[in-house]
Amino acid sequence: MSIKNIIVAGTPQLRQPAKIVPLTWFGTLEAQQLIEELFATMQARQGVGLAAPQINVPLRVLVYGFEMNARYPDQAPVPRTLMVNPKIIHASEEKVYLYEGCLSLPEIRGLVPRHEWIEVEAQDKQGKIFQNRYQGFEARIIQHEIDHLEGKLYPERMDNMRTLGVTAALREAGLIR
Ligand code: NI
Repeated sequence: MSIKNIIVAGTPQLRQPAKIVPLTWFGTLEAQQLIEELFATMQARQGVGLAAPQINVPLRVLVYGFEMNARYPDQAPVPRTLMVNPKIIHASEEKVYLYEGCLSLPEIRGLVPRHEWIEVEAQDKQGKIFQNRYQGFEARIIQHEIDHLEGKLYPERMDNMRTLGVTAALREAGLIR
């Protein structure tokens, strides 16, 4: 099967900005394989999103989406989506806070401010450019995954490091579900 190993913080490759995907990539076997690996690995690890650098592929490709997720049981379903070369073109002034985790930072969560809504331009599987507006948890996932494409991890977005905690303890304390 096409489930890949997820690299964790401390691995230098996770900190390198990913490369822009060229037009020649779209429709290739390599493209199809990467997309399948990202979705399969995300699902196998109960992720809500996954960026290519997390499986050690330095390309600007991300996936997200789920019907039900054990790690974020309060969240409504988010459609399964692929984005290639995504860019945030507009974002709300308003920021919202939620305890966020990351498969590359196992067992911890922290309270992270994110734009409440964003407008994104990206390419689909065929290389076709699309634009869309996203809000709430979906907007949060996209911001988190785009950060991975820049080699950035969520603790760098936090404004109160005292909220960083071990997932099981935060659950025990009733701070997350
Ligand atoms: Ni992550």
